[in-house]
Amino acid sequence: MIARRIAVPLAGILAGSSVLLTQPATAGVSPPVEKRPVAEGYGGAVSTVDPDASRAALEVLRRGGNAVDAAVAGAAVLGVTEPYSAGLAGGGFIVYYDARRKKVHTIDGRETAPRAMTSASLEGVPLDEAVTSGLSAGVPGSVAQWELALRRFGTLSLRQALQPAIRVAREGFTVDRTFHDQTAANAARFADFTSTARLFLPGGAPPPVGSTFRNPELAETYRLLGRYGGRWLYGGGLGAEIVKTVKNPPVAPGSARNVRPGLMELPDLRAYRALERPPTRTTYKGMDVYGMAPPSSGGSTVGEALNILEALPEAGMHEYLEASRLAFADRGRYVGDVPGVPLEELLSDGFAKERACLVGERAMPHPAPPGNPDGAYEPCPAADPAPPTAETPAEGPETTHLVVADRWGNVVAYNITIESTGGNGIVVPGRGFLLNNELTDFTFGPAPGDPNLPGPGKRPRSSMAPTIVLADGRPLLALGSPGGSTIITTVLQILVNRWELGMPLPEALAAPRATQRNTAQTQAEQGFIDRYGAELTARGHAFTLNPEIGAATAVEFLGRGRLQAVAEPSRRGGGSALVMIPAR
Ligand code: GLY
Repeated sequence: MIARRIAVPLAGILAGSSVLLTQPATAGVSPPVEKRPVAEGYGGAVSTVDPDASRAALEVLRRGGNAVDAAVAGAAVLGVTEPYSAGLAGGGFIVYYDARRKKVHTIDGRETAPRAMTSASLEGVPLDEAVTSGLSAGVPGSVAQWELALRRFGTLSLRQALQPAIRVAREGFTVDRTFHDQTAANAARFADFTSTARLFLPGGAPPPVGSTFRNPELAETYRLLGRYGGRWLYGGGLGAEIVKTVKNPPVAPGSARNVRPGLMELPDLRAYRALERPPTRTTYKGMDVYGMAPPSSGGSTVGEALNILEALPEAGMHEYLEASRLAFADRGRYVGDVPGVPLEELLSDGFAKERACLVGERAMPHPAPPGNPDGAYEPCPAADPAPPTAETPAEGPETTHLVVADRWGNVVAYNITIESTGGNGIVVPGRGFLLNNELTDFTFGPAPGDPNLPGPGKRPRSSMAPTIVLADGRPLLALGSPGGSTIITTVLQILVNRWELGMPLPEALAAPRATQRNTAQTQAEQGFIDRYGAELTARGHAFTLNPEIGAATAVEFLGRGRLQAVAEPSRRGGGSALVMIPAR
């Protein structure tokens, strides 16, 4: 049976909603909330980085909502409890398996550049200046994406789906170490904006671990969004406030920060559309791997690397790093929000075989040049004379991912972001949310021919890689991760761990990670260096330490209706996996 549109008022979810809107942001001390990284059972499953978001999504499932309803509700809660990674002024990508139609759909809610942005708009702008600026704020995509997802595949209205988030924003959540540390890491720039300091630095400091953080202004913003709909943002009053903030950021008196204003205008918001796009698809070990097409590079890069691995006689950690290196070389050259991305060829077995020829006993010389996905493949061609693409810049832990499966077999993998942890650092005054700085995902240039240069109305290339794997046409695994361009390698490595190395899913997620993105050195967690470093160094790899790569979430379908929801045991403080009916 498939969920039909239901008229559940979700009144219970709003229990206690009479909390005064004037309460201070922090008050009292609450006990830490229980988090479990693995849950097995039946009837529906959720995995997010955050217990409040997981609980809210599960509650929506429990009340008859489907996976899309629960994913939107969970994402809105993440906008409250993970406000430095997600929010209504951000964007994201949904990959959705529709059980009734047996079809995978995707929804692109990526932020866009304003129409006044040109390929030269970011040239010469120092990255750290762009990060905290109005200039880097893209037209938000999340709200349009939520509306489209609910309209196409959900059963709840936006107003209904926002109720859990309104409750959490009003009643508050318990500040954990991750929220505290993310606030502290941002404190200097948050202090430079009156609106941000007022919300996130109450009393001038990050809220203490164990305190309750309330965001009544965000609760009210969500309430009004539910009432007026996305039009309020895309051309209405909330949109006007966003434009005003982007063009004239509320810089604190005495701040020495050079804050560049943005180019966004109200017609840019009016023009925004979330878009349904065909998914990427590749076969791997007899399974079908579905991902996100451009403007994300997630689907094509994960898919190409898997194809390269399949073309090799064995696939261990050396091969994983080399396949990823090659796929990143191609991503840099060919993938962006431009016409004519050679997606089919990038994901073809012929191209993969040609690329796999370059994988030898030792790490290949740096940098790997891009290949030539032209449809005419040789067993082992001479090196392409095309110059290599620019190195992928350093990446932080930003962004978040959630997975939901419902009782009808629908599945959502959903990556959400405001780009940097803390977005552009600027809260829209009185509205309780941060703006994104997604336009820093563009190549700043000058870089003639780069598919990821900024342009009017263009979407910056993403690395978000929400992924759904089908076996015999049925869902087998759904997964994704935060981490900028390391998202791609995290998803890839989990798949390698699971199906090349035979690890059970919880182990595949927890295992130490490395990320090779066509860089001279491979970033790796200490555990990876300890486990594989000596062997791989002997084969020509070089490592630098990255303390934490990706806080992934996943759900595996174990057969006979049994689900295994998996979150991180420790990265980003550990995530929260829940199932509707726990197995005994
Ligand atoms: N901002 C992270 C990504 O889109 O890849």
